[in-house]
Amino acid sequence: MNTKTSFPKDFLWGGATAANQLEGGYDEGGKGLSVTDITTAGSLEKPRMLTYMLNGKAGETPAMPGAGLPKGAILPDEYYPNHVAIDFYHHYKEDIKLFAEMGFKTFRMSIAWTRIFPKGDEKEPNQAGLDFYRKVFEELKKYNIEPLVTISHYEDPLYLSEKYNDWQDRAMIDEYVKYAKVLFNEYKGLVKYWLTFNEINCSLLMLNLFGQKTNDDAVYQHAYQKLHYQFVASARAVKAAHEIDSNYVVGNMICGIVNYPLTPDPKDILANRYAWEQNIFYCGDVQALGEYPSYSKRLWNEHNVHLDITDQDLADLKAGKVDMYTFSYYMSNVITTHESKDKVGGNFAAGAKNPYLKYSEWGWATDPVGLEYYLEVMNDRYHLPQMVVENGLGAVDKLTEDNEVHDDYRIDYLKQHIQAMKAAINNGVDLIGYTTWGCIDLVSAGTGQMSKRYGFIYVDRDDEGNGSLKRYKKDSFYWYKKVIASNGEDLG
Ligand code: BG6
Repeated sequence: MNTKTSFPKDFLWGGATAANQLEGGYDEGGKGLSVTDITTAGSLEKPRMLTYMLNGKAGETPAMPGAGLPKGAILPDEYYPNHVAIDFYHHYKEDIKLFAEMGFKTFRMSIAWTRIFPKGDEKEPNQAGLDFYRKVFEELKKYNIEPLVTISHYEDPLYLSEKYNDWQDRAMIDEYVKYAKVLFNEYKGLVKYWLTFNEINCSLLMLNLFGQKTNDDAVYQHAYQKLHYQFVASARAVKAAHEIDSNYVVGNMICGIVNYPLTPDPKDILANRYAWEQNIFYCGDVQALGEYPSYSKRLWNEHNVHLDITDQDLADLKAGKVDMYTFSYYMSNVITTHESKDKVGGNFAAGAKNPYLKYSEWGWATDPVGLEYYLEVMNDRYHLPQMVVENGLGAVDKLTEDNEVHDDYRIDYLKQHIQAMKAAINNGVDLIGYTTWGCIDLVSAGTGQMSKRYGFIYVDRDDEGNGSLKRYKKDSFYWYKKVIASNGEDLG
């Protein structure tokens, strides 16, 4: 790796979070229920479930794509980790002060749709919800921290989700655009950077985990239709953002998993390309290039998918191309058409084990070279500024008796990825920002655990909801502060 070049002068160093994994206060300030609010805790062995009440009977169901939602309900004997999360709702001032102490230039957060529109279909927004985010943005401004705001991060309003069967109705487009426009008007002057949907490609990545098992074309139909409506919603939001404030910069957000072929067998090479197309390029191409790529037909035909697409939709996609390409990066994945006994699964990837890489306790591969590879591929494909808006290591941390956390493994992981970004910049990539995932410990999206920690700041809370919620600085806190102060030169 060549690491000659420096990070650009105004590089946006910071951290990333999502409302449902951070805020808590799930029923405060007039907030309505989101899908995450009826999601139970899980672990590596035990999947998270959605809970419901149907004909007076309580039940739970796995969060399977296309399965449809039953009458979601909170059950009295269940534990829901997102209800309190780390209570950022009441601790935001303290937390933002800590981010400022590290020197954050940006803070990625999301807005809970149900704080603004509790059910989703109201005509007027909820004032208490608007006020909460205004206070957060003003607090960030105090420290010159630029917010980077995800409009929708895995927390659709439960009511809308049930009514429209998880984006199976184009009425969802209008609901989303109405919500986005309220944000663009309300926070003009306080926010500059917006992301439309978190990891929009997860609907397709989920098919790798569930689709092939069920091999049910209806599951594919559901996923591609949902995506089409989301693409149109995203494009219309981008257009509206530019009309409301020409300074707004709007990005997409892709779950960036790098795929490698296991063998030189031409069948593996082809399967690997197909994996890139389905899992990664499909969404990026539509959102960044403004039209469906030619291979879409093959993807749809493979599963007999027929989409509701209008001419107006296609015009909207063209008119609402994103201004920047952003993605999360944690790991790479290995594709093969051969039987492989060594299977691994992490994030949204399930593939063969890569003998050249090390895996975390949760089975996620550490692969900084993959990050350089990804950045360079996307740079040449889209010619857009990029941001790595999630990257990090989920690990079990130990708080010592002196209230310290010696997380050298996390420092090592992040250091390698920062070096990879530097190499990509050196090779011509227009990278403008980096926000590490879970800069403060928060609830894991995949497992619902608190014990899978990513933060520079330790939060005293466990997997059962015990703990003082007190915050403690980890070793990585001081390390990241040095990284930012030296604009990525001093990696310690
Ligand atoms: C990304 C999501 O997929 O990965 C985040 O955007 C999530 O919401 C992050 O938290 C890490 O995954 P996990 O399952 O370890 O929380």
